[in-house]
Amino acid sequence: MRKQILVSFAPLISAFTPTFVRNASTTSSLFPSQFGSYFDTNPRDKVYTYNRDIESLMKSGSVDCALKLFDEMPTRDVITWNILISGLKLNGLSKEALYFYSQMVSQGFVESSSTFSTVLGAFSHEGLYQEGLQVHNRVIVLGLSLNVYVGSALIDLYMNMGLVDFALRLFDDLPERNLATWNQLLRGFGEFGMSQKLQLYYRMKREGVVPNPLTFCYLIHSFGNESLIDKGRELHSYAIKVGWAESDLFVSNALVDFYSACGSLADAKKSFEVISADDVISWNSLVSMYAYSGIDSDALEIFSMMQVWGKKPSIRSFVGLLNLSSGNVNIILGKQIHCFVLKLGFDHSSCYIHSALIDMYGNCGEIESSVLIYENIPRKTLEVCNSLMTSFAHCGVVEDVIELFGLMVDEDIGFDEVSLSTTVNTLPKSTYASLTSCKLLHHCAVKSGCDHDLAVSCSLIDSYSRFGDVKSSCQVFKQLSSPNVICFTSIISACSPSKMGVECCKFLEVMINKGLKPDKVTFLCVLKACNHSGMVQEGTMVFESMKSVHGIDPESQHLACMVDLLGHKGLLEEAERLLKQTPVNNDSVIWSSLLRHCRAHHNEAVGKRIAKIVIKLEPENPSIWLQVSNFYSEIGDFETSKQIRDVALARKITV
Ligand SMILES: *[C@@H]1O[C@H](CO)[C@@H](O)[C@H](O)[C@H]1NC(C)=O
Ligand SMILES: *[C@@H]1O[C@H](CO)[C@@H](O)[C@H](O)[C@H]1NC(C)=O
Ligand SMILES: *[C@@H]1O[C@H](CO)[C@@H](O)[C@H](O)[C@H]1NC(C)=O
Ligand SMILES: *[C@@H]1O[C@H](CO)[C@@H](O)[C@H](O)[C@H]1NC(C)=O
Repeated sequence: MRKQILVSFAPLISAFTPTFVRNASTTSSLFPSQFGSYFDTNPRDKVYTYNRDIESLMKSGSVDCALKLFDEMPTRDVITWNILISGLKLNGLSKEALYFYSQMVSQGFVESSSTFSTVLGAFSHEGLYQEGLQVHNRVIVLGLSLNVYVGSALIDLYMNMGLVDFALRLFDDLPERNLATWNQLLRGFGEFGMSQKLQLYYRMKREGVVPNPLTFCYLIHSFGNESLIDKGRELHSYAIKVGWAESDLFVSNALVDFYSACGSLADAKKSFEVISADDVISWNSLVSMYAYSGIDSDALEIFSMMQVWGKKPSIRSFVGLLNLSSGNVNIILGKQIHCFVLKLGFDHSSCYIHSALIDMYGNCGEIESSVLIYENIPRKTLEVCNSLMTSFAHCGVVEDVIELFGLMVDEDIGFDEVSLSTTVNTLPKSTYASLTSCKLLHHCAVKSGCDHDLAVSCSLIDSYSRFGDVKSSCQVFKQLSSPNVICFTSIISACSPSKMGVECCKFLEVMINKGLKPDKVTFLCVLKACNHSGMVQEGTMVFESMKSVHGIDPESQHLACMVDLLGHKGLLEEAERLLKQTPVNNDSVIWSSLLRHCRAHHNEAVGKRIAKIVIKLEPENPSIWLQVSNFYSEIGDFETSKQIRDVALARKITV
């Protein structure tokens, strides 16, 4: 029967013989065959025994012995080839498995469904998609495309190729699907196909497919997102109901991963605690979750616990712990983590770790260490360059920021929004940079398309204004399609020193009308602009709207602007009233500034009241006593002026 089929398919099969098979038959054998070195009189039994021996050798990892036995075999059957091919694949020798597959086909053996599922898996694993497609042809010719095992392998191949829709079509066409097929599909969606997985999950429920722990792991893995936490909890309840949550090692660890990824500390910890320590796989999830939540005691406790259990920390854990040391400016912790990194040999491998180390030392102010790490990295990537650059900027090493940018361009490392905005921000602080440098970087931004980035634009607005070119700041701003609060604040701040109070108030109005919420920095910039432009009415209105309309409590800096604005115009009673009304009025600098305005406008009545308040606020400050004494002498009250001086001397406040 079988022979018949073979014969009738023979021309078709050879027509669909994969090209790599034809090629392979002409190349010399990897493992020279001693085909037919002896002949046995009872070949059938012999083959069976050989097959079993090869299989057990492969399972125990003795690949060479298995191959030797294979070579010795006088005759082989399809099962021999299948055992050999899947054994090689099992031992991680996918390339060799594929070679023997081509040998098998070229020697005229016809694949069974299990050959196909092994071989397709190997092609998929090796990324040999072209060859995989040729095998699919053979599957069709041999009429095996509806076989559930072959179907699963094909689905896996197409999922790996990214042809999700095609894989789903194959899936739908299968007359029967086993759980493995569903799992295959779920696994194929990887980390990111959350919505597809969710759909598939609902479909499984509709079709009454009973999931297994593996299904559960694939599903919950992609629900590790705060927005999907309820779906995950639903799965968790299911796992509890069927008893996996505690009994299945992978499920319980997946739960820890899931809650960690959702940032749900308490749940993660609860799930962690039911797992016995030597069964924990999710150590790293917990460490990085605690690290990113800034809980250093727990992060470190679990980190040291995993050392005790001999588990290797992952890159993510190290990056999390370094981020933690960096955020808490804890150099001691940072150095300890660095030691672990060196000990475990991670320092050569990961650009994330390099960046995290550079960031950590930079944030802790040890810029030399950042530079040292950078210099020891053989291949400088954009990420590590950016880390060094932001570290330079953080430590105020201004010229090096600019030099590094030049180096990144020269050495074709390139730059991104982070490099550009950091460099543009730094320019005004440099002694060598000028408006031309700013224009040059602006040009780079336009050419690379980074000029649409809001951070880059804000830096440009700011830098241009610092170089005195407010017009260019305004141009950059105008080109923004949807500026955010920070952009508005930048442009207001850019315009504020050049007596452009009217424009600043206008910008404030525009942003409020756009539904953006100005913050206290925005208001400070507007008030500064009003102060510089002497716009009393507008300034007063803006100041009052801060609390009453926008619910922002004015701080002493806002108050200082108002006092200068009113004081400058001689509106001293108004300034005094405003100061007394505002809760944060304990800053002697503001009162003393009001006193100066009183002096300038020769306002004795207000001045005397203010003088008392300043001395009460800063009884130990010699410059305050001096200022008050001078005020009295200026208004002709030499008696009081002298008295104040004497009191100060008596109280040993050196005036
Ligand atoms: C979580 O889901 C939201 C919306 O579905 C998505 O925007 C966000 O990128 C996801 N976060 C992660 C970490 O995957
Ligand atoms: C730590 O990581 C978070 C999230 O990735 C990031 O927002 C933060 O800036 C990092 N902190 C430091 C100090 O690098
Ligand atoms: C207010 O404007 C004046 C004049 O431009 C300036 O001297 C003063 O420092 C400004 N006050 C504040 C608080 O910015
Ligand atoms: C003003 O008082 C607040 C508390 O009301 C305090 O935090 C702040 O330090 C004080 N400022 C000065 C300059 O004394």
